[in-house]
Amino acid sequence: MKKQIFRDQQIPEAFDIKTPIVQSHYLIDGELRPWTGKMTQIVSPIFVEENGKRVKKLLGSVPDMSEKEALEALEKAKAAYNLGRGLWPTMQVKDRIDCLLKFVEIMKTKREEVVNLLMWEIGKTLGDSRKEFDRTIQYIYDTIEEYKEIDRSSARILLTEGVYAQIRRGPLGVVLCMGPYNYPLNETFCLLIPALIMGNTAIFKPAKHGILLMSPLLEAFKEAFPKGVVNILYGRGRVVSTPIMKTGDVDVLALIGTSTAANALQTLHPKQNRLRLVLGLEAKNPAIVMPDADLDLAVSECVLGSLSFNGQRCTALKLLFVHEAVVDAFNKKFVEKVNQLKGGLPWEEGVALTPLPEPGKVEYLRSLVTDAEAKGAKVINEDGGWEDETFYFPAILYPVHKDMKIYQEEQFGPVVPIIPFKDIEEPINAVSESNYGQQVSLFSTNSEILAQLIDPLVNQVCRVNINSQCQRGPDVYPFVGRKDSAVSTLSVNDALRSFSIRTLVAAKDNPLNKEILNELLDKQTSNFLNTHYIL
Ligand code: G3H
Repeated sequence: MKKQIFRDQQIPEAFDIKTPIVQSHYLIDGELRPWTGKMTQIVSPIFVEENGKRVKKLLGSVPDMSEKEALEALEKAKAAYNLGRGLWPTMQVKDRIDCLLKFVEIMKTKREEVVNLLMWEIGKTLGDSRKEFDRTIQYIYDTIEEYKEIDRSSARILLTEGVYAQIRRGPLGVVLCMGPYNYPLNETFCLLIPALIMGNTAIFKPAKHGILLMSPLLEAFKEAFPKGVVNILYGRGRVVSTPIMKTGDVDVLALIGTSTAANALQTLHPKQNRLRLVLGLEAKNPAIVMPDADLDLAVSECVLGSLSFNGQRCTALKLLFVHEAVVDAFNKKFVEKVNQLKGGLPWEEGVALTPLPEPGKVEYLRSLVTDAEAKGAKVINEDGGWEDETFYFPAILYPVHKDMKIYQEEQFGPVVPIIPFKDIEEPINAVSESNYGQQVSLFSTNSEILAQLIDPLVNQVCRVNINSQCQRGPDVYPFVGRKDSAVSTLSVNDALRSFSIRTLVAAKDNPLNKEILNELLDKQTSNFLNTHYIL
C-alpha cells in the first residue's frame, strides 16, 4: 500500500527549485562579503530522477568557512560589543526594538522562500513549515512586548535601607548561537532574538540541516542591525566553533543540540566560570497510560506526541508505558491510527510522514528495531519499518524492556517502543533513573491517581502533561529540563532573563546623591539610569 509513494511524482511548479541556490556571500561586520573559497553542497532528503538514476536533489551550496573567518567573526562581534561600551549594548531600548521591528518586517516578505526551503531541506510538511515561520514571527513580536514590560518594571528608583537603586537587566557580551535541524528557523531564533534584544552581539552558525533557508534572511540581518551585531558562519562545527570557544572570548554558549556537542564545546573555554550556558539538549519523554485512561484520547495524543514530524522533536514521546490491563486494547487502537498516517512529500495534501534529513538515519532506526527484535520485541504494525530511500514508516515495537537500545537511546525518529507495566513504581523509577528530565505525559481519568503521579514526577521532570502530549508551547510557558536535558530556561520571558544579568546603579541617600540622581533623571543623560517608560 505504501510502496512507490515517492516515485514518479511531479514536483508542483510552485515548490520546484529549478536552479541550485548558490550562497556566495557571508555576513560579517554588517557587510555581505563575497565568498570565493570552498563550497559545501546542500542536498535534500528528497530523491529525484536524474539521467535515469535516483539521487538526492541538489538544492544549492554554502561557503565552507575556515578558522580564519571564524576568528574574524569573533573579533567583529567583540568590537561591536566593545566591552559593553559599543553602540548596540548602550543603545536605548526603544532603538534596539526599532532594529528588531525592521528585521521582522523584511523577514515577513521572505515567508514563501523560507517555507519552501524548510520543506526541501528537512522534509517538514507544508503546514508545519508555515507554522514554524509564523510562530517565529509571533515569537519576535512577543519578545519585543515582553522586553518593554521588563524595561517598564525597571523604570523606577527604589529606596531600601537608605540606599537608592535602579535595577535593570544588562547584556552579557558575545553569544555563540547554534540551533537544531528539526526547527532550524524557530529554535535558532528563539535563542538569537532574545540574545540580541538584551544588547548582546552574536556569532550565529546555522544548524547542520536547514542552512540554505537562512540565505533569504541575510539581507534582512544586514539592513536591520548595526555592523558586527550579527555575524553568520557557515562551516563544520569542529573547524569554526572550536577555535572561537578556545579563545575564551565567548560569554554565552547558546545551543540546541546534543549534550555531547555542548560538553565538547564548553570544555574548550579556558575560563568556564565566565561562560553562561543556554542549552536545550536530548530528552526521552515518556507517556504513562493508566488502566482507567480514556484510550481513544491517549492513543490520539500518543500518536501525535511520538510521530509529529516523524518523531524528530526533542519533546516527542519516546517511551510509551502502558498498563498491562489495557495494553492490548491500546496497541490495537495505536496501530490502527498509525496505519492512517499518510506518507509522502512535504507539500502533499494531508501528508504526515516524510523523508528524514539525517544521513544514515534509516539505517540507525533499522538497527534499533533489529536489536529490540533480537531481545524479544516484535514490530506489531504490518508496514512497520518499511523503507524507501530516506523514508521510514513508523515501527511500533512491543513488548519493550530496559535492555533494549530503543529503551535507552533517543531515537529522534519514527520508532515507537511500548513497555507494558504492572506496578506504577516501574515507570516512576524509569523516569527517576533516566539521564533525561524534560517532560512526561500522564493518561488517566481519575484525579486521585493523577495526584499520586504528579507529585513524584514534578521533581524529576520540568513539565507534567495531563492527558496531553508533551510539547514546548505555548511559547510563553517555561521550556526547561533537568539532568542532561537542558541548562537555563527558555520562554518569551525566561529567554530574556537567560541572556542577561541583573545590574544596578546604587547611591546612599544623602543630599549630594539626591541632587545628582535628580539631575541625571531630569537631563536623561544616561541610557541606563532613567525613568523613561516605553509604551
Ligand atoms: O525539538 C524540540 C522542540 O523545542 C519541540 O517543540 O514541542 O513545539 O514541537 P514543539
